Amino acid sequence: MTPPMDWLPDGTPYSPRFGDRYHSEQPLAQAREVFLHGCGLPGAWAGAAQWRILETGFGLGLNFLATWDAWRADPDRPRLLHFVSLEAWPVSSTDLLRAAARYPELLPLAEQLAAQYWGLLPGVHRLWFEGGRALLTLAIGDAQALLRQQHWEADAVYLDGFSPEHNPELWSAHTLKALARCCHRGTRLATWCVAGTVRAALTQCGFQVEKVPGTPPKRHNLRARFDPAWEPRPARAAAPAALPGPARCIVIGAGVAGAASAASLARRGWQVQVLDAADAPASGASGLPVGLFAPHLSPDDNFFSRVSRSGVRAMLQQCGELLEPGVDWQASGLLERRPEDHGEDREHHDHADALALIRVEPGEEQQIAEIQHGRPEHHVRHGVSDGDRVDREPAGHGHEHDDRDQAGADHRRVLHGALLLRRARRQHA
Ligand SMILES: C[S@@+](CC[C@H](N)C(=O)[O-])C[C@H]1O[C@@H](n2cnc3c(N)ncnc32)[C@H](O)[C@@H]1O
Repeated sequence: MTPPMDWLPDGTPYSPRFGDRYHSEQPLAQAREVFLHGCGLPGAWAGAAQWRILETGFGLGLNFLATWDAWRADPDRPRLLHFVSLEAWPVSSTDLLRAAARYPELLPLAEQLAAQYWGLLPGVHRLWFEGGRALLTLAIGDAQALLRQQHWEADAVYLDGFSPEHNPELWSAHTLKALARCCHRGTRLATWCVAGTVRAALTQCGFQVEKVPGTPPKRHNLRARFDPAWEPRPARAAAPAALPGPARCIVIGAGVAGAASAASLARRGWQVQVLDAADAPASGASGLPVGLFAPHLSPDDNFFSRVSRSGVRAMLQQCGELLEPGVDWQASGLLERRPEDHGEDREHHDHADALALIRVEPGEEQQIAEIQHGRPEHHVRHGVSDGDRVDREPAGHGHEHDDRDQAGADHRRVLHGALLLRRARRQHA
């Protein structure tokens, strides 16, 4: 398989697949001048409740990092920045960091990005920063196909790809038409590409296009505004009417679903009142003393597997941010065994591997195998919730289970991770 990228001897990131460089000679200036300023940012988002940016081609994430950096620095920033990027061939986190290393101001952000940049299988992955106020949704797959699946409207579009001679599909009329479906009247678009065919296709799709002075050595860049002569159809005929801006609302029920909805609305600026008959959250069906979570793997990586993987990513992220490791929870591993007749299904392995799922210490694998009385097949990221145990144990000792004291002890030995719902309930009461 062709690696997504190489580094040229002068340190330039290069794509052997497309025979082109990832950036201009001044990558950060390009990100800021062409894309941010090209879309009128940061000024355009001032006072907005949220700002949604759609990018074609995540590449080395420089446009995202520059945008996140500008958002952090802006006192008038929107409450929520949502950056959605489409990428068919994600690079490695090592390459992301190497590209960002040139820019000390971006490096801390790149490190946070790299920490969440794993398991990027085809599908949609939400990465979460700044307490959920800066979201990066990485959609892995072909841009045109992905654009056709989007049911939301962007406030700004970064149209980035390799040059049209090397990467024609990304700039094709079909791709740009699918992209226009994700725009509302007034959506701004920016790109460094001023090719006549691209300008003509954008115009045909309803954009008002203008050539502006370029970032040297380029003579021109392109800016555009979606303002068609016709009434644009929403991203989907059945799309709900635009929601009102943040206001007041009531969430009924303080279980896991209610609490998560309330938190999500509050992050978006809503004033939320949560009503529950009980005097503490998670007092009903959500009040489980112990919980395990792990992704579901399937040979065809079906929809259920993808959704469960997203859930595990979100759970790991939230646990890492809100709870104390070793006390309230512990990321660990889960041993998944395949039936003997499963054969060497490479794809199945790939899904497990791509999740980078378990960190087995040297020697531990053998131990795990003995516990399971068989050969380990897959190790997957997962977590465990165990309210009783930690309620009784002093802080810092939650992971020191006596593995033999309960039914299912072998599993506890393997998993030894905990998310302590009961404890969390107490804290939020
Ligand atoms: C010039 S690079 C993008 C640079 C990036 N925006 C940054 O800030 O570092 C172009 C990217 O588009 C991706 N790409 C090219 N054709 C694509 C397609 N048809 N679908 C999805 N991604 C594509 C490439 O893999 C590459 O990562």
